[in-house]
Amino acid sequence: MSCLFPVAKITVLSCLIILISLWFLPAVSFAETCSTTNCHADLLQMTYGHSPVVEEDCSSCHEQIQEQHPLEEGSSFQLVEEGAKLCYQCHDQYGRKLTVHSPVAEGDCLDCHNPHGSNVGRFLLPVDHNLTELCTECHDSDLFTNKVIHGPTASGACTQCHDPHEANQPKLLKKPSQELCTSCHTEIAEGLANSPVVHAAVKDSSCTDCHNPHSAPAAKLLQKDIESLCMDCHADVGRTAQKAKVKHAAMYRPEKCGACHVTHFSQYPALLAMPEQNLCLSCHGKDDYSKSNPLNNIAKEIEGKKFLHGPLQEGKCSACHNPHGSDNTRLLKGAYPKSFYLPYTTGSYDFCLECHDKNLLRFAETSIYTEFRNGKQNLHYLHVVNKYKGRSCRACHEPHASNLKKLMSEEGAKFGDWRIPTRFIKTDTGGSCSPGCHQTYDYDREAPVDYQK
Ligand code: HEC
Ligand code: HEC
Ligand code: HEC
Ligand code: HEC
Ligand code: HEC
Ligand code: HEC
Ligand code: HEC
Ligand code: HEC
Ligand code: HEC
Ligand code: HEC
Ligand code: HEC
Ligand code: HEC
Ligand code: HEC
Repeated sequence: MSCLFPVAKITVLSCLIILISLWFLPAVSFAETCSTTNCHADLLQMTYGHSPVVEEDCSSCHEQIQEQHPLEEGSSFQLVEEGAKLCYQCHDQYGRKLTVHSPVAEGDCLDCHNPHGSNVGRFLLPVDHNLTELCTECHDSDLFTNKVIHGPTASGACTQCHDPHEANQPKLLKKPSQELCTSCHTEIAEGLANSPVVHAAVKDSSCTDCHNPHSAPAAKLLQKDIESLCMDCHADVGRTAQKAKVKHAAMYRPEKCGACHVTHFSQYPALLAMPEQNLCLSCHGKDDYSKSNPLNNIAKEIEGKKFLHGPLQEGKCSACHNPHGSDNTRLLKGAYPKSFYLPYTTGSYDFCLECHDKNLLRFAETSIYTEFRNGKQNLHYLHVVNKYKGRSCRACHEPHASNLKKLMSEEGAKFGDWRIPTRFIKTDTGGSCSPGCHQTYDYDREAPVDYQK
């Protein structure tokens, strides 16, 4: 329908006079409408016109209240309804959902929409697909301009996540927060559904506990650097890392916790990036790995060996070492001496005795607590429990693996520049050693050797 207001002749005439005086000659039959008179023709020429405007149904929104038009002062027209009611004549009313955007609730549709149309974008908006400029007329642009910017935010696709009018989720979100994120990040949805190990922090809470949806100060849209983020919830690990006397260099690399853990889900226990042993050996499987703190190549220590120390048979380095830090030498989980010799005190070997018989070093004579005895004489006691110069377990045993039974050391422990081989031979009832420490000695549990002879 065309815009046929009850227009006074004088108004049409004055329009015509102006037009003729400009030598502009449109068909007179159209001159009776608001737009084709060229007074408001621009409204019809908008690239994206509002349907009722395009159809010249001006009166659906405007009604004439003064006969004269145009007026020198004031307006001959008024809107048929106020605020949002004008729009709700034809559009569904907002306000039924949980959250309603403040300007929508106020009926200020025109804060965002041009009632007639737009020359730059759809939806009667003053912007094209990038909404940032529109939204930041009211919202603090700091939200969107931090160091790392999320793809959809950078392109102003606010309405991928937010409904501009109303929503059943908080913050005008179109879907529950996690579902929203995984609707684009489908690989994460799949991982969460199909992985044996899922981080409780990801499963049970919102992605935005750790990430900012718009822009963030830290890589991967993290709210803060990864270390403080993790330590917010894992304060115990944080304390260990900070206070440990022996610190693990792996914790202080740029990736921080990410040097070993993945964050969302994993195929492996403790959210490790790969099976634990492979992880440790990815660094400790090299010669001269650390210049400042020369360390054995553990892969070489283990490879092809006949006997692996119990926990290593399951690839559990962490049964003995605390990867986050420790007060004990070599990051061990309990007390263990650093040196070859040491004056024995109770507790010096708590680390080993956490898993092995507590009475190993308790009695000078025993017939049950160890096989390393000559008759009843406890040879562990003899070697280790010496107040002045006890020998540590490393004098005879390998920590990780050996080709000799009972993890007896083949190459021997480091003793200055030399290594003292044990040359251990096991028999059914005892054994013999020909170490660098002393002459060959046998021991026999059933027919004890008389060392005085
Ligand atoms: C969907 C409702 C709607 C329709 C249809 C509509 N208008 Fe409007 N128009 C408005 C509103 C609302 C305003 C007030 C805008 C403001 O206050 O910023 C307005 C303002 C105007 C103004 C004042 C100047 C301006 O641009 O702000 C003119 C002139 C105008 N309209 C002409 C027309 C003409 C001519 C038509 C038909 C071709 C038309 N309108 C159709 C809603 C409409
Ligand atoms: C007289 C009826 C009528 C009124 C009043 C009206 N509209 Fe519309 N509007 C329509 C029609 C018809 C369409 C086209 C719908 C379609 O294409 O599905 C439309 C489309 C729209 C669109 C989508 C435009 C696009 O590019 O897809 C927006 C946004 C819109 N209207 C906003 C408003 C606002 C804001 C108001 C109040 C200022 C309003 N409308 C008042 C009839 C109306
Ligand atoms: C804060 C800005 C803002 C306000 C205020 C606002 N809108 Fe919108 N509106 C938008 C944006 C942005 C879109 C485009 C939606 C999209 O991209 O999916 C839109 C789209 C629309 C559409 C067409 C698509 C649809 O969702 O149906 C209609 C109709 C509409 N708005 C009507 C209204 C009415 C009526 C009001 C007032 C009650 C209003 N809007 C207030 C920003 C706003
Ligand atoms: C005309 C001003 C205005 C514009 C333009 C505007 N907003 Fe808002 N918005 C507000 C106000 C006011 C609030 C309420 C703020 C508050 O409660 O602290 C709000 C709140 C919000 C909220 C939080 C809702 C909640 O429940 O906490 C979101 C999300 C939002 N706006 C998104 C947008 C998006 C997206 C755009 C652009 C399409 C936009 N806004 C444009 C004024 C505006
Ligand atoms: C990838 C999805 C996504 C995109 C894209 C997005 N947002 Fe958000 N926005 C969110 C989420 C999720 C929240 C809620 C954050 C929370 O709960 O901590 C939010 C919150 C908000 C808030 C409320 C802030 C507050 O502190 O309460 C505003 C305002 C807002 N967004 C505006 C925008 C604007 C404007 C854009 C486009 C420039 C945009 N958003 C783009 C997901 C998004
Ligand atoms: C509309 C689709 C979409 C939604 C919804 C979405 N994202 Fe994204 N996200 C992207 C795109 C696109 C990228 C950039 C991908 C790339 O660079 O490989 C991205 C990248 C990311 C990144 C990596 C950023 C970086 O610097 O490497 C994170 C983290 C992220 N999104 C988290 C989220 C979170 C959290 C949510 C929910 C609040 C979310 N995304 C919702 C599309 C989306
Ligand atoms: C406990 C904190 C935390 C939570 C909760 C969390 N993330 Fe992350 N996210 C991270 C960290 C840390 C990184 C970077 C290290 C990494 O890739 O593991 C990251 C990386 C990402 C990346 C980039 C991945 C890449 O390969 O570049 C995306 C995308 C992502 N997260 C999406 C999500 C989504 C979606 C959710 C919710 C389902 C979510 N995140 C929940 C901490 C978290
Ligand atoms: C919002 C709190 C929160 C944040 C932030 C958080 N976590 Fe967690 N994390 C948990 C909860 C809850 C558990 C499960 C309870 C537990 O085992 O303590 C868990 C468990 C773990 C586990 C053990 C998983 C298993 O199945 O054995 C690891 C490893 C872990 N988190 C690493 C991290 C890392 C790395 C970060 C930083 C990227 C991080 N967490 C950030 C809450 C959090
Ligand atoms: C050198 C590799 C490595 C680094 C770096 C590392 N972890 Fe671990 N983390 C592990 C291993 C291996 C386990 C499994 C140990 C176990 O089961 O006792 C583990 C277990 C965990 C657990 C679950 C068991 C526990 O001790 O509570 C949490 C939580 C955890 N790590 C958090 C962190 C945090 C937070 C960081 C960064 C501050 C971090 N990790 C850095 C290797 C590492
Ligand atoms: C990302 C590389 C990396 C990974 C993975 C790693 N480490 Fe380390 N580790 C190091 C570095 C570097 C040192 C040397 C520290 C130094 O120079 O002081 C070290 C030192 C050690 C030490 C000796 C500590 C000392 O000061 O005496 C032990 C024991 C150790 N790591 C065990 C492990 C175990 C067990 C794992 C697996 C849970 C592991 N490491 C994973 C890099 C790594
Ligand atoms: C049964 C306990 C146990 C297990 C399991 C274990 N270790 Fe050890 N590890 C030790 C002991 C004890 C030492 C100290 C040896 C010494 O100082 O004589 C040690 C020393 C180390 C050292 C320092 C080497 C050096 O140069 O002195 C590294 C590195 C190391 N272990 C890595 C690993 C890795 C990697 C794994 C898993 C593949 C692992 N450990 C499994 C007990 C264990
Ligand atoms: C986390 C537990 C654990 C710790 C700590 C530990 N071990 Fe073991 N050890 C085992 C397990 C399990 C076996 C395999 C037992 C079996 O096969 O009966 C084993 C086997 C041995 C054996 C071979 C015994 C046999 O009968 O073949 C020796 C020797 C040994 N450990 C010495 C030590 C020494 C020395 C220490 C301290 C430096 C130590 N262990 C620390 C768990 C541990
Ligand atoms: C002087 C060498 C020597 C020293 C030092 C030594 N061991 Fe042994 N250990 C042996 C011999 C030899 C056997 C094998 C006994 C047999 O089966 O005949 C053995 C066996 C073991 C066994 C297997 C169970 C048993 O008692 O028969 C364990 C466990 C063990 N030692 C732990 C330790 C621990 C812990 C230390 C340090 C506190 C240590 N050993 C110090 C020589 C030594």
